Amino acid sequence: MNAPVTTLSGDWIEIGALEDIPRQGARVVKTASGCIAVFRTADDSVFALDDRCPHKGGPLSQGIVHGNSVTCPLHNWVISLETGMAQGADEGSTAATAARVEDGRIYLARTALAQRVA
Ligand code: FES
Repeated sequence: MNAPVTTLSGDWIEIGALEDIPRQGARVVKTASGCIAVFRTADDSVFALDDRCPHKGGPLSQGIVHGNSVTCPLHNWVISLETGMAQGADEGSTAATAARVEDGRIYLARTALAQRVA
């Protein structure tokens, strides 16, 4: 699912409704400098990472979410949704963006996105 950034307000940018993302799924938010994958975990936590695996750029938004991690669909690296760091013996990281949910709406940190959406 792709969606443009729709609303700018304060320090947070609203990108849509929590219910738009299935549990253990993701949606992609397109920005001027790349796509951000927004993940919803089984317990309704929300995390945002660049939609590029630190290994060879695989689309993390198409990976499998388990706990607070996602497994890349290309070569099965496991990436922490909280930090963007590769887990286990693998090394590397992808940029994480602060995300929060309020009244069923998802917000991403404006400061982290400022350069992207400017
Ligand atoms: S590109 Fe993600 S594991 Fe290889």
